[in-house]
Amino acid sequence: MKRALAGAVVALGMSLASGVSAQSLTVGFSQIGSESGWRAAETTVTKQEAEKRGVNLKFADAQQKQENQIKAIRGFIAQGVDAIFIAPVVATGWDAVLKEAKEEKIPVILLDREIEAPKDLYLTAVTSNQVYEGKVAGDWLVKEIGSKDCKVMELQGTTGSSPAINRKKGFEQAIASHSNIKIARSQTGDFTRTKGKEVMESFIKAEGGGKDICAVYAHNDDMAVGAIQAIKEAGLKPGTDIKIVSIDAVPDIFQAMAKGEANATVELTPNMAGPAFDALNAFLKDKKEPPKWIQTESKLYTAKDDPLKVYEAKKGLGY
Ligand code: AHR
Repeated sequence: MKRALAGAVVALGMSLASGVSAQSLTVGFSQIGSESGWRAAETTVTKQEAEKRGVNLKFADAQQKQENQIKAIRGFIAQGVDAIFIAPVVATGWDAVLKEAKEEKIPVILLDREIEAPKDLYLTAVTSNQVYEGKVAGDWLVKEIGSKDCKVMELQGTTGSSPAINRKKGFEQAIASHSNIKIARSQTGDFTRTKGKEVMESFIKAEGGGKDICAVYAHNDDMAVGAIQAIKEAGLKPGTDIKIVSIDAVPDIFQAMAKGEANATVELTPNMAGPAFDALNAFLKDKKEPPKWIQTESKLYTAKDDPLKVYEAKKGLGY
């Protein structure tokens, strides 16, 4: 009770200092689901950031379905929230519901994924450069493989999602002028560990046991972890027989790296909400329009980066 009261006093002090009535701010957050470790961390961080700022966060888990997201957003509009955060599961099909939010003058901020819609339908998008992420992963492989022939298995993210589209594009750009490296098989694993494993099992089978597979490029670490399991069960050594490169930098991939079973990952911060709340506050307080794209960093980690140390440091950052 005492703690809650103290928290309320701190939040009130913060809101008075910033001139924004943060306590009365209600934000609806339409989250995709909990398909990956990264996604779960983003949810945790968003709730923490809201609490820290005294924001009343209304959370809706869409269980991977766009129709659930649209329903949740319409619900937020009907409740008259002050703003809406959306992590959009796919890139298209948002115009109608965003127009409804705009008509009610409710600012919308996109988290971690891009959409194909007129830019005036949302305030800003906090995302990484997903084409660049794919390029960083591809450049790493090009350097690692040198002039050797390399048959790559690609595990794509959710079909129609911006990271699946863009991470594919960036990787293909990186290997385009290296004819020794070819994507031999490419299929969606829906950003989940289970499907990553299933798809990798089918790739290994189709490749006659997997001895000629040189690398796995997974659009996220969870699918890479699933693929690692499949490779081990097939009697091959992930990280040695088959190189593993992926995206997210979740703690589990650093554990795999420490064991020599994964080789490289590109970091995606789960803290999309911090910059989103900052932009929203500036907009509500001073009508300051943020840039349409607030870009987060993409850093490459390899086994040289003391994976166990990174693993320890990652815990507590939403993981
Ligand atoms: O949109 C970001 C992606 O979505 C993350 O890389 C992945 O883990 C998540 O499911």
